[in-house]
Amino acid sequence: MDRRPERRTAPHGRGAHRARRTRLAAVALLTALAVTSCTGGVTGTPGSSGTRDELFPKLGNDGYDVQHYSLDLDYDPATGHLKGGATIIARATKDLSAFDLDFAGMDVEAATVDDKPAAVNRAGDELTLRPREDLTRGKTFTAYVRYSGRPKTITDPDGSEEGWLKSRGGGVLALGEPTGSMAWFPSNNHPRDKATYDIKVTVPDGLQAVSNGELASKASDKGRTTFSWRVKEPMATYLAAVAIGPYEIDDKGMTKSGIPIYNAVDPGVKEQTAEVVAQLPDVIAWEEQNFGPYPFSSTGVVVAPEKASGYALETQNRPVIPLDHFDLSTLVHELAHQWFGDSVTPATWRDMWLNEGFAQYSEWLWSEDHGGSTAQQHFDEEYAKDDGDEIWAFPPAAPPTAADVSGRPVYVRGAMVVHKIRQAVGDEKFLTLVRDWTRTHRHANASTEEFTRFVDDEAGHKLSDVWDIWLHGDGKPETP
Ligand code: TRP
Ligand code: ZN
Repeated sequence: MDRRPERRTAPHGRGAHRARRTRLAAVALLTALAVTSCTGGVTGTPGSSGTRDELFPKLGNDGYDVQHYSLDLDYDPATGHLKGGATIIARATKDLSAFDLDFAGMDVEAATVDDKPAAVNRAGDELTLRPREDLTRGKTFTAYVRYSGRPKTITDPDGSEEGWLKSRGGGVLALGEPTGSMAWFPSNNHPRDKATYDIKVTVPDGLQAVSNGELASKASDKGRTTFSWRVKEPMATYLAAVAIGPYEIDDKGMTKSGIPIYNAVDPGVKEQTAEVVAQLPDVIAWEEQNFGPYPFSSTGVVVAPEKASGYALETQNRPVIPLDHFDLSTLVHELAHQWFGDSVTPATWRDMWLNEGFAQYSEWLWSEDHGGSTAQQHFDEEYAKDDGDEIWAFPPAAPPTAADVSGRPVYVRGAMVVHKIRQAVGDEKFLTLVRDWTRTHRHANASTEEFTRFVDDEAGHKLSDVWDIWLHGDGKPETP
């Protein structure tokens, strides 16, 4: 795996652009379902086992829309064994004889739909549930899956690891961008289908279990503690997280805007990181000023042990940052994602630059506002890179393969697109536009096409050159 030590050349240590092609499309063809309805006079058909995401065609499933996940996870660090229960409340978007969930590894012990046993079929990372009776379009139903086993670590097409990541001392980071949540709960694993969550995690007394949203309760029984987290705002599956370990908790703080802060810091890294962690309220205040009101009901950061994941991740409410990626700029980046990615979520994985371009640009803006290089200087420094540099390898809105979603063009050239918009409309209009964007798409999804149309409308004219050359054009643009 290609991990570079320097954040400037590889943000968050993600693998660099690779030519290696994935075989996801071929895999997609192999998993066609043979499930048909046998009930007399019924017209339901199986929901499809993918959403035709260009980069990850097998992720997500059509035929239903999840409203809520209720996860009950019981973890034993001594054996690495996880017992899970997932209750999924969803609405059928067509008449369904069966539907798929994305789920990798683990043993499925039981499944019900509306409290009646459902037939279970597994093929690859697809879990098919076939209820006794068809689900009619528009109906809200409850699926329940009970499972157990040792959850997998998933290796991404770009070589980095996600899913269930074990670290020293019984610690775990459960992470999910772009696919890894299916290692620890069954879901409609595509950013398009956001839902609210209850995440309950039981671990031995003495360990903490930190997740998204707010801690609703904590109870100890027979040597084990159950942490119940509640996520009230919609969340994409890739942003769900659990951090288990001997974390030190600080839940006393609050942002200037009154948002409660819940920080969890690994005791081994506390000293080196305390000064930056203490700046979190200032970062949020600055971001609120630029991007609009903070979109969620709590915030914070999980500072994980060194090398616990190999990258930082903008998990909803509180990002996870391991020591080896921990610095102020990364904190600014991951918290900016709360607006760009977590609240306004890409419609497909191809739209990833809407996340990373803005998060990278927020680092440039922060630097500009705090006595460092201006965004223009950052832009110029990037533009100076020669034709062959990997930042020009593909247009930011068109990563050629799944291995490229975290590629340099998505981050750096994505930020350059944002800068070109700022140049085109001027500073004042730029910030109004950014706040209008986060407000009008709050807690929803957005595609690249929706974004360019939105910017054109707000600007009052089409930014054709920015889109044609900077966003969609191949190679290094001729002029900066
Ligand atoms: N989104 C993370 C960040 O920029 C980096 C990352 C982690 C990532 N896992 C990923 C990017 C998977 C793309 C795909 O902070
Ligand atoms: Zn990012």
